[in-house]
Amino acid sequence: METQDSTNRLTRNIQKRYNRIAPVYDLMDKITVPHRMREKAINLARGEVLEVGVGTGLNLPLYPRDCTLTGIDFSPKMLQKARARATKDNIQVKLLQMDIQQLDFPDHSFDTVIATCVFCSVPDPILGLKEVRRVCKKDGQVILLEHMRSDIPLLGLLMDILNPLFLYIIGNNINRMTVENVKKAGLNIVRVENLKADIYRLIVASP
Ligand SMILES: C[S@@+](CC[C@H](N)C(=O)[O-])C[C@H]1O[C@@H](n2cnc3c(N)ncnc32)[C@H](O)[C@@H]1O
Repeated sequence: METQDSTNRLTRNIQKRYNRIAPVYDLMDKITVPHRMREKAINLARGEVLEVGVGTGLNLPLYPRDCTLTGIDFSPKMLQKARARATKDNIQVKLLQMDIQQLDFPDHSFDTVIATCVFCSVPDPILGLKEVRRVCKKDGQVILLEHMRSDIPLLGLLMDILNPLFLYIIGNNINRMTVENVKKAGLNIVRVENLKADIYRLIVASP
């Protein structure tokens, strides 16, 4: 009960932080996430797509034309930006306010469930990834572009030390063990590709 309470409290705090940084998010992103990495991940999408933690919708213009898009995020301010982008670029997408840890979709709804730079900030990432697995069709795919804790011992330790600072300022954990979390959620790893050292990685998994 206490664990659920602390997850709820953390969820509200992180939601508030994203509401706060929404006006400057796109600027911050320019320095942190190279466009080519986004393209690589989003190019893999097919069919009925759910993007979780869609943010300001930076990926929306990159989807293959024949995808049907739904995006969810728990931050109304980030979603507001995503809606403006979709309207400006004439992109058909259903954008909904929702928590990844409690997705309001039936089991096996989507061919592709995709996230870019999201599971560093979801308070209970394993719960969120279990939800991703649940809503993905049995023959569907899960695509994750995430930054995570380095396996290089000294760098990993430095990330552990600096993590509280990042968590406080932007609500981001820089030391998540996302590949392990994906496995713990019951997803099957198809491949993992290092995109920037071993910090940014592309993970392809199946439910
Ligand atoms: C670092 S931003 C990434 C946004 C976007 N995916 C991108 O690549 O630009 C993380 C996003 O995940 C959202 N997020 C974090 N935890 C969430 C949760 N539990 N449920 C829904 N959205 C969440 C935040 O509101 C934020 O928009």
